[in-house]
Amino acid sequence: MDDRPIGIFDSGVGGLSVCKAIKDAMPDEHIIYFGDTNRFPYGTKAIETVIRYSKEITAYLISKNVKMIVVACNTASAAALDILQKENSIPVIGVIGAGARAACRKTSGNKIGVIATRATVASESYIKAIKEILPDAEVIQQQASVFVSLVEEGWTDDDIVRFAVKKYINNMYAIGVRTLILGCTHFPLLKKAINDVFPELSLIDTGEEIALEVKKILIKKNIENSGTKGKITLYASDITDTIERLKDMFFGSDSNKINKLIIDGDK
Ligand code: DGL
Repeated sequence: MDDRPIGIFDSGVGGLSVCKAIKDAMPDEHIIYFGDTNRFPYGTKAIETVIRYSKEITAYLISKNVKMIVVACNTASAAALDILQKENSIPVIGVIGAGARAACRKTSGNKIGVIATRATVASESYIKAIKEILPDAEVIQQQASVFVSLVEEGWTDDDIVRFAVKKYINNMYAIGVRTLILGCTHFPLLKKAINDVFPELSLIDTGEEIALEVKKILIKKNIENSGTKGKITLYASDITDTIERLKDMFFGSDSNKINKLIIDGDK
């Protein structure tokens, strides 16, 4: 039994979907979540900047004695995961590998679609991760930045969302994509809208997938916690209406409040 917490971080609010998936899969685990709402978004930043932010947050989580780190942010996973893994001795895992593995397992053809931020698309991290498993796969990427703003606005089931869904996904659907990776933490909140427009699309929720991988790692390393109810401690670098709303949506309005935390370099 190991009651050290799992550290999870994201550029902002979207990683709460990953946090919820991990909590549901492992209710006994303590979790520390940091959402960098003050420096959000990461998807439009230079890669060096995202690496610097990711290293600062990782150092903070390590100082809190976490037993593993989940990089819930696709943009940060694309930019910094390799570096964080090399520089730290505890397991550090990211959503991109988990999403790619799930898509390869679930796809019936060789076409896999990815929607993500511009930075994640430009990194081609999903293409590399998928092709390592399925070298013949055809990966069709599409940046879908407007989805991030729609979710931040609280619009997840509106006509404007369905319009954007058509605009972003139509082309890949027309050429035969039926497996689509939701390559940004915000996008699982749009699952219903996406499937309203394209019912045949099988959607890969990287949060659900990484939760399964976290569980496997904890069991393999014999570092699970058990017998106590896991505590979730939420930090954000800016307490915005959006993070409050999503916290209530995922964990209930009586859940613990979000603590404001400015990490070095964030000042
Ligand atoms: N967490 C980010 C991601 O998954 C959301 C968008 C952003 O920060 O630009 O890419």
